[in-house]
Amino acid sequence: MARGRFITLEGLDGAGKSTHLTWLVDTLRSRGHVVVQTREPGGTPLGEKLRALLLADSMHLETEALLMFAARREHIAQVIAPALARGDWVVCDRFTDASFAYQGGGRGLERGKLEILEKWVQNDLQPDLTLMFNVSPDVAMNRVTRMGRDLDRFEREQQDFFSRVRDEYLARAAASRGRIRLIDASRTVNEIQVSLEEIIATI
Ligand code: TYD
Repeated sequence: MARGRFITLEGLDGAGKSTHLTWLVDTLRSRGHVVVQTREPGGTPLGEKLRALLLADSMHLETEALLMFAARREHIAQVIAPALARGDWVVCDRFTDASFAYQGGGRGLERGKLEILEKWVQNDLQPDLTLMFNVSPDVAMNRVTRMGRDLDRFEREQQDFFSRVRDEYLARAAASRGRIRLIDASRTVNEIQVSLEEIIATI
């Protein structure tokens, strides 16, 4: 049985990830793949409890990083690794690039500590493809505030935080040797779907 593919979606809050996630999962299913759709932080009953804490409660930045990776450890063990071993495809809304971007870039946690956690929790597991939705922090923040719902602890951050998150995302994309595909998310939904079609045709 061939191992399934592991695809992650990344970008600032408000970059439009959620719209494209639904389309991507439907498209892959229509091509005959069995797709497990999941998210981080979360994806398991324990991970969803950690998510609720992470999005609501203030905490030390290292506690935040450790809880993100604790949720991820459970997620890999319970959901991601078994699905890939079955030959299913996994589409995950955020993964470790978000820890580097938000806890590393945004909050300033040393990259070396994140790399230790990454190695510990993932060993050699990495996404086969990461779709990174790239918009400017002001466009993203406008979209988030226009949604009109209560904002979580990350969405309430200021523009300079999102600028650092985005810079880290872009630096990781540049260093990723093709794993991360940058998508200009300031375009229309249809234009973006055309790009996504081209990208998924290659994997
Ligand atoms: P997201 O799923 O984008 O939230 P929403 O339901 O509003 O679309 O992600 C929740 C938040 O978690 C997001 O602001 C980024 C943050 N996050 C981190 O800071 N580090 C991480 O490792 C992950 C996976 C998410």
